[in-house]
Amino acid sequence: MRLYRSQLIRILADIVLVNVGLLLAFGLRYVMVMVTNDAPGLAQQLFSDYRHQFVTTSWILTLLTVALFYTFGVYHHVRAYRQRFKVIVVIQGVALSHLIYGFGFYLASLLPNPPRGVVVLSWVFSTLLLVGVRIARTLYRAFEEHERATPVVSDQPKHVLVLGGAGYIGSILIRQLLDAGYHVRLVDSLMYGDRAIRALYSHPQFEFVKGDFRHIETVVRSLAGMDAVIHLGAIVGDPACAIDADFSTEINLIATRMLAEACKGYGIRRFIFASTCSVYGASNETLDERSALNPVSLYAQTKIDSEQILLRMADATFAPTILRFATIYGLSPRPRFDLVVNVLTAKAVREGKITIFGGDQWRPFVHVADAARSLRLALEAPLASVGGEVFNVGSDEQNYTINQIGDLIQALIPSAEVIQQGADVDKRNYRVSFAKIKRVLNFTPLHTVADGVHEICAALEAGEIDDYYDAAFNNYKYLTAETTLVRLESPWREQHAPALIS
Ligand SMILES: NC(=O)c1ccc[n+]([C@@H]2O[C@H](COP(=O)([O-])OP(=O)(O)OC[C@H]3O[C@@H](n4cnc5c(N)ncnc54)[C@H](O)[C@@H]3O)[C@@H](O)[C@H]2O)c1
Repeated sequence: MRLYRSQLIRILADIVLVNVGLLLAFGLRYVMVMVTNDAPGLAQQLFSDYRHQFVTTSWILTLLTVALFYTFGVYHHVRAYRQRFKVIVVIQGVALSHLIYGFGFYLASLLPNPPRGVVVLSWVFSTLLLVGVRIARTLYRAFEEHERATPVVSDQPKHVLVLGGAGYIGSILIRQLLDAGYHVRLVDSLMYGDRAIRALYSHPQFEFVKGDFRHIETVVRSLAGMDAVIHLGAIVGDPACAIDADFSTEINLIATRMLAEACKGYGIRRFIFASTCSVYGASNETLDERSALNPVSLYAQTKIDSEQILLRMADATFAPTILRFATIYGLSPRPRFDLVVNVLTAKAVREGKITIFGGDQWRPFVHVADAARSLRLALEAPLASVGGEVFNVGSDEQNYTINQIGDLIQALIPSAEVIQQGADVDKRNYRVSFAKIKRVLNFTPLHTVADGVHEICAALEAGEIDDYYDAAFNNYKYLTAETTLVRLESPWREQHAPALIS
């Protein structure tokens, strides 16, 4: 159990408030008795009794209240939970702690028994104090966010909204941003669950909004007070995107435009969009950011269309940056085994053989932690050098053919056999230049494919990943699984799509 400083402060404040509530209850009860009774010597006797009862029992009520609050999640930082339910949970916690406190003395009369009237009054005072302070704090925060939401834009963002950050890249990026001192708000519908971000819920700089970014209310609520937006949310990968073209287009394209327009409305200039080198499709040249695009899948097409919409919207109030990631490998809190390096490594370890289809196709690669780092570099770079710009993310040294990846894995796992089979259905073939990101952002990956292979091997061998075939590690499998088929109903589609697609 790890407690952060801000949680400790809140616990201490609650301890003070519970004791103030109990003191007020004893005080009021004292006054009430004195008003109705003037027996000689009563004032002193009652004062001494009440003082004794307070000193000997207040710690029990304090302990009960804090323990119940902790158990009910009052000290966690899940935003939706805090806003909607925290007041109710606090009321319930105070009621329960007072019930136990009141009845406990009757059942086990070991300690002096506080009068029932005091218990009831303390219940009322503590509820008012503990709820009142929270409402006041929420109002103050709303006021603060409103003030920050006015379009005064800092070139050094501190409050960052990450959309789709519970996934493979996002779950690493968010940790990097929190470590660097950013305040991070995450919006994610948790298509693949929350395992990758659960450990972050209690981080004081982290806020989580569970929601679908296709919904304007979710977007508007989440943008308040943010200085920058990193948009990672998507249906990711060619097979996953092809399952339901309308669904994928809504998420990958239409929502991107709506989000960008909302950012403009809020005066948020810094907008970083996760695209992919898949936009280059198939080509025998070495391609850079100015090369012709040649999408061979709906996934790539939605990314190209989103890029174009964003770049067309760029002006003095909006400065989007497009990062086209190479194919990613390596471990993250949400591992994916639908990516070539990861899945071939897993097959080599678990099945002792890897099957390669085709094999001559070129593909650039980058480690997931380096991909996350590139997002942070774009976030921190002067807007003048990244606004309205497109960057390929990777390194010239990590352009490989799939055969070369197979050989590399076999060299690291010599017991594995490599089997060549006919042509691949995946038509992608591209070699990419990463000179621009190196020149402008001074980005050079810190990891190699061999590092990624070692990580995956270690995680499999240590049993951290049991069944790499599990649908949780594969977007296509997960989205087509009977039990997890995600189809968020969308009246929104009919109402808005015609106006938003251009
Ligand atoms: N992983 C790669 O190899 C790679 C390569 C190039 C580009 N990219 C891009 O990087 C980004 C992140 O990729 P990833 O590998 O982390 O993907 P991922 O599939 O692991 O994560 C995507 C996240 O988006 C969320 N999401 C999807 N639709 C949503 C919605 N409507 N509302 C709220 N949340 C929603 C999902 O719940 C998930 O957590 C994507 O835009 C992807 O296209 C990834």
